[in-house]
Amino acid sequence: MHISTQTLPNNAVSTFPEIALPTPPDKTKTSFSIGPYHIQGQALLAPMAGVTDLPFRNLCRKFGAGLAVSEMVSSDASLRNTRKSKLRIVHDGEKTPVSIQIVGTDPKQLAEAARYNVGQGAEIIDINMGCPAKKVCKKLAGSALMKDEKLVEEILTAVVKAVSVPVTLKIRTGWSPEQRNAPQIARIAEDCGIQALAVHGRTRACRFNGEAEYATIRQVSESVSIPVIANGDISSPEKAKKVLDQSGATCIMIGRGAQGRPWIFQQINHYLEQGILIPPPTLTEQQHIILEHLQHIHRFYGESCGVRIARKHIAWYTSLQKHGQAFRQQFNGLNLAKEQIGSVQQFYERLIQQEINAA
Ligand SMILES: Cc1cc2nc3c(=O)[nH]c(=O)nc-3n(C[C@H](O)[C@H](O)[C@H](O)COP(=O)(O)O)c2cc1C
Repeated sequence: MHISTQTLPNNAVSTFPEIALPTPPDKTKTSFSIGPYHIQGQALLAPMAGVTDLPFRNLCRKFGAGLAVSEMVSSDASLRNTRKSKLRIVHDGEKTPVSIQIVGTDPKQLAEAARYNVGQGAEIIDINMGCPAKKVCKKLAGSALMKDEKLVEEILTAVVKAVSVPVTLKIRTGWSPEQRNAPQIARIAEDCGIQALAVHGRTRACRFNGEAEYATIRQVSESVSIPVIANGDISSPEKAKKVLDQSGATCIMIGRGAQGRPWIFQQINHYLEQGILIPPPTLTEQQHIILEHLQHIHRFYGESCGVRIARKHIAWYTSLQKHGQAFRQQFNGLNLAKEQIGSVQQFYERLIQQEINAA
C-alpha cells in the first residue's frame, strides 16, 4: 500500500511561507554512477533510523547530499502496517534516486521486501549489514550477517535477482577486530551484482566505540571495482578529504555529522571541489532553515507526533548555541506546533540581536 503525506494528519499547518534555501552547489566535478543513476557530489547521507525521515532527507539533498538513504525498513511483511513502517516508505517529492534500506535475515523474505519496496517507489535497494543494534543482531541481521559469508551470498543473490533496480550494500569492517572480513564480503558482493558498497570503519563488536579506521576500507577499495563509500566519524570538510585520501573510496557517507547541520554537504562539496572552506549559514539563514524543517516535520508526522520528533532535531541545531540548554529545557515542554515555531523564532531572533550588538 502506498500512503501519501496527504493522508496523514495535517493538524499543524504553520503560517510560515516556504523559504528558499541556499542554492545547492553546482555540479561537482566528481560524480559516479550507481546503475543508471549519476550521483553528483561525493558526500552522501547515511541511513539513520529515527533521523533520516523524508523531511531530513529532502533537506540534506537540498544542501547537496548526492544520495540520502532511507531509515531501514524490516523485511518482515507482518510489520508493514505499523504507522512507523508506513511513514518510512513515503517518498512524496523525494529527489531521484530514491534509496530504501531493507534489513532482515532470510534471503526469500529480503527478496520479497525488495520487490515490495520497488513497488513503493524505491529506485535503489540498499541492504543493511552494518547495524549493530541488539534487536537486529539477535535475529542475525544487520552486521551480524557478516559472520556468515555463505548466507551473505545467498541474500545478495536473491535480492539482486528479485529486482531490476540497482542493489547496494552497507557493511562494517567485520564482525570483530580479529575478524575484519570486509574485503571478502566486498568481493562476494561484487560477484553477486551489488552496485555500490558502503563501509562503516568499525567492526560490529566496536559498536560506536573508539575511532573509525579507514585502512580496512582501503583494502576494500583495492579489492573491488564497484563504487566504495567510506563512512564513520566524518564531521568536517577536512576530515572528508582525509578519509577519501586514506580509504581510496569513491565517496563518503555522513551520519551523525549531519545531525543539526544539514548544510555540511554543501561545505564538504565546496571544499572537495575548490579547496575552500565555506562558513556555515548565518544565524538568519539558520533560523529560516530550521523553521522550514520544523514545519515539514509537523506536516509529515502530524502535530502530536511531529512535536516529539522535532525535539531531537532542535536539540542538535541548538547544541552549540549560547543559552541552548536553557532554551531546550523550555522547548521540550511545548506540545503545540505553533508554540515550537514561535519559540525557535524567538530564540534565533535573540541570537541574531546579540550578534548585532556585539559587532
Ligand atoms: C541514530 C542512528 C541510527 C542509525 N540507523 C541505521 C540504519 O537504519 N541503517 C544503517 O545501515 N545504519 C544505521 N546507523 C549507522 C549509520 O548509518 C552510520 O554507519 C554510523 O552512524 C557511522 O557514521 P557516522 O560516524 O557518520 O555517524 C545509524 C546510526 C545512528 C547514529
